[in-house]
Amino acid sequence: MFEHLDLNESDLIVDTLGEAKTPSPLKLSTVYGDRIANYVRDTESVLLYHDRDVVLSQLKEGKPLLAFELAGPRQNIYFRPEKTRAGIVTCGGLCPGINNVIRSIVMTLHYRYGVRVIYGFRYGYRGFIKKYGYEPLFLTPENVRDIHEKGGSILSSSRGSQDMEEVVNTLERMGISILFVIGGDGTMRGAYEIYSIIKQRGLEISIIGIPKTIDNDIAYVEKTFGLETAFSVAADAIRAAHTEAIGAPNGIGLVKVMGRLSGFIAANAALALNEVNFVLIPEIDFDLYGPKGFFSALERRIKERGHCVIVVAEGAGQQYVRAEGTDESGNPKLGDIGVFLKSEIKKFFMNDVGIEVNLKYIDPSYMVRSVPANPHDSMYCMQLAQNAVHAGMAGKTGMLVGRWNGRFTHVPIKLAIKKRKQLSPEDPLWLSVLEATGQPMMMVNEPQQSYSSSE
Ligand code: F6P
Repeated sequence: MFEHLDLNESDLIVDTLGEAKTPSPLKLSTVYGDRIANYVRDTESVLLYHDRDVVLSQLKEGKPLLAFELAGPRQNIYFRPEKTRAGIVTCGGLCPGINNVIRSIVMTLHYRYGVRVIYGFRYGYRGFIKKYGYEPLFLTPENVRDIHEKGGSILSSSRGSQDMEEVVNTLERMGISILFVIGGDGTMRGAYEIYSIIKQRGLEISIIGIPKTIDNDIAYVEKTFGLETAFSVAADAIRAAHTEAIGAPNGIGLVKVMGRLSGFIAANAALALNEVNFVLIPEIDFDLYGPKGFFSALERRIKERGHCVIVVAEGAGQQYVRAEGTDESGNPKLGDIGVFLKSEIKKFFMNDVGIEVNLKYIDPSYMVRSVPANPHDSMYCMQLAQNAVHAGMAGKTGMLVGRWNGRFTHVPIKLAIKKRKQLSPEDPLWLSVLEATGQPMMMVNEPQQSYSSSE
């Protein structure tokens, strides 16, 4: 619960390019109570800890109350709209909602601020590098009008870093004032590098991140866009697995879902469709064999109920299937725990238990992320994009738009890339999973060492 108390006030300060002197064209109010929507002051904030006891103890100890800057439109902006040139880039794996974000950035820049020059850089950071030869797309409300209906990214994407000095050269040459970077943790590390080079060179270019990943593993962001759509599709796979499991003697439906080293998709999908009996996630170790291991619990379940549904997150149980190396984004490569479990479970029932099981394995794989955003993600994407535009126009930089305690926030990129967010076994979300599945709290024979969350 107190995992963020090692932070200092300075960790949450958002950088700006300079004083915002141009009156915003939005014509909002500065007075609460006049029934007109309001500008947000830089001093408005969202507490990092909103638990009353924590707040009181911090005050008692004379410690500062750590808080994120609140996102939203500012009364004065830094960039003059008629002179502003914006860029958008989408990096990393695809994710539902990318096109919604692109569309809303373009619409907000154009209709709310009057910005007329907006470029979309193609294929991630490669789009800035001459040797790849990708010409940027000129984006207008007209040509982004229908894109939110489609999955993927109209700009396409790529993994991996590039020569960030050259990226900044391109931004400088094209006179870009604000670059919106849509991506996950690897992308944000790249965005931070770009921001640092811009700062070193003393350029007036704002870097604004929009956290995108179905994995929901970005620190200090309550929820990344794409997660909800992804787990809804994963829930369809669970439905199929359950149908198959109850349709055969001793049926076992095994579903593997994406999520890398975080179990959010698995946990949420299991709760979305309450037919799951075991959820295996990277954050919680499990033994296969032995009286307290997973297979003993599975044997009991099959003997008692005659069927079972298991959801395994792709990053779970990596000690059994360890893979070497990292991908282009710097993420550790994962061994295939789904295929491994499929064959080990069959072997266990055949050799150790001596009963027939019917195991059906489903891996929805890229299907969970290549679909269009569902209504809730669509709305979330739009609001992230609107707040990203407000932040960029106000001259904020080196930050991403987050959400904390239900409100949109400004998070320094440097802070967000410090660690990977994972699902803590002490998170109420995990307790819901335990209560919904009835699975043992721990499936290890020896007591586990204390868990240290990276969030
Ligand atoms: O990070 C998003 C994600 O979809 C992960 O859940 C998955 O492990 C990975 O990307 C797949 O990456 P790639 O597109 O490189 O195959």
